[in-house]
Amino acid sequence: MTSRSCLSILLAAGLGTRMKSDLPKVMHEIGGLPMVGHVLNALQTAGSEKVSVVIGPEASTLQDFIGQQAPHARCYVQHDRLGTAHAALAAKPSLELNADDVLVLFGDTPLVTPETVAKVRQALAAGADLAVLGFETGNPFGYGRLLTENGRLVAIREEKDASDEERRITFCNSGIMGFSGAHALSLLEAIGNDNAKGEYYLTDAVEIANGRGLSVVSVTGSQSETQGINTRAQLASCEADFQDRMRRSAMDNGCTLLAPQTVFFSHDTQLEADVIVEQNVVFGAGVKVTSGAQIRAFSHLEGAVVGAGSVVGPYARLRPGAVLGADTRIGNFVEVKNATFETGAKANHLSYIGDARVGAKSNIGAGTITCNYDGFLKHKTEIGAGSFVGSNSTLVAPVKLGDGVFVAAGSVITDDVAHDALAFGRSRQVVRDSGAKDLRKRLRAEKDEKS
Ligand code: UD1
Ligand code: CA
Repeated sequence: MTSRSCLSILLAAGLGTRMKSDLPKVMHEIGGLPMVGHVLNALQTAGSEKVSVVIGPEASTLQDFIGQQAPHARCYVQHDRLGTAHAALAAKPSLELNADDVLVLFGDTPLVTPETVAKVRQALAAGADLAVLGFETGNPFGYGRLLTENGRLVAIREEKDASDEERRITFCNSGIMGFSGAHALSLLEAIGNDNAKGEYYLTDAVEIANGRGLSVVSVTGSQSETQGINTRAQLASCEADFQDRMRRSAMDNGCTLLAPQTVFFSHDTQLEADVIVEQNVVFGAGVKVTSGAQIRAFSHLEGAVVGAGSVVGPYARLRPGAVLGADTRIGNFVEVKNATFETGAKANHLSYIGDARVGAKSNIGAGTITCNYDGFLKHKTEIGAGSFVGSNSTLVAPVKLGDGVFVAAGSVITDDVAHDALAFGRSRQVVRDSGAKDLRKRLRAEKDEKS
């Protein structure tokens, strides 16, 4: 990486009218992370030490999010939304700090990679005064078109200002621009608003820089990472590209995805090598799956850790705080929430295990339920190692079962059970010989009498 200092100005004040949403556009999520968060992550990896974010006047959710995600970033408010150049100037105090490189990026272009940000900075390091990241697309509608002459970038024309001929150009502006720090402020301040929308267009910097005899270049990126989001349909198509990127990287890192198109990731999903993921699996936020584990079809995981060699599903649900040690088994229609399964523990069928600890090698029978909530407070169930909880048992928390405990099937356990104890929490079975036959006889007689 270059030793040049870098300021990034991230524009995120637009209303996002076309999203038809109460949420600021850049707070809409891709892979479960607000789009502006993706750009902040890319900037961090690309080594931009200073980041300024331009936000709208009523954007407290956005400001809070930025405070959490990038505490070092400074927010500037653009009070009137007069265009992208006007927005960049809202961060004028940071421009006066004289960084070597000044990047301007859009919060609604979330898939840009750190490598591409670095490419723009390399163009500046190589002597460009202004570098624009462009991309080729089959569907250029709505984007500014890059006008080139003999490979030189001459101007950027916005859709609304473009001639028919210019609209046929397929080389488009991603919105990401790099300015040499020496010229950034003066170029931005020279931009006017004489155009179809009456806005201050950042894109006009290109013509102004050319007029001053500065060096202006374009850098080419891929459409999948430069696509901008203005509508819900574009949000969906960006999500699809992001999912493909996550699937690709999981497979590159050594995971088997049996049907990649049916597996959905969160931005922070971590799968180690030799994890196998079957069809139709959804990863919510905060999941880590350790090497050799298998996630079987139709499972939903969120905020969970899966230990090495464990098998989850088919049809399992792991909710936040589920921590599975090595070689555990969580089978069909089992829900685990805020519960630890120690090495080799199993719950194979139809259970709810919440706010619990299940000791090593214990076996939770089909239909076991931890009653963790009394309508007011949550309570904990502790089960020691090597215990066996019979099918259809109800464990009423708070309750502790020791090691090596055996709970008879169908029990309601309300009291603690000591190590190696056998607990029955149900009434004894009564059998009367020929009782069924006698009952049928009596019922038939009653029916005959009535008819
Ligand atoms: C912009 C570019 C266009 C480019 C496209 C790429 C301009 C004039 N146009 O068009 O060349 O092809 O992005 O996606 O730059 N914003 C503010 N304040 C404002 C206006 C916008 O902060 O006053 C922010 C928005 O939040 C958004 C970004 O700037 O993150 C881009 O604004 P938007 O209105 O979406 O521009 P486009 O029409 O997409
Ligand atoms: Ca846009």
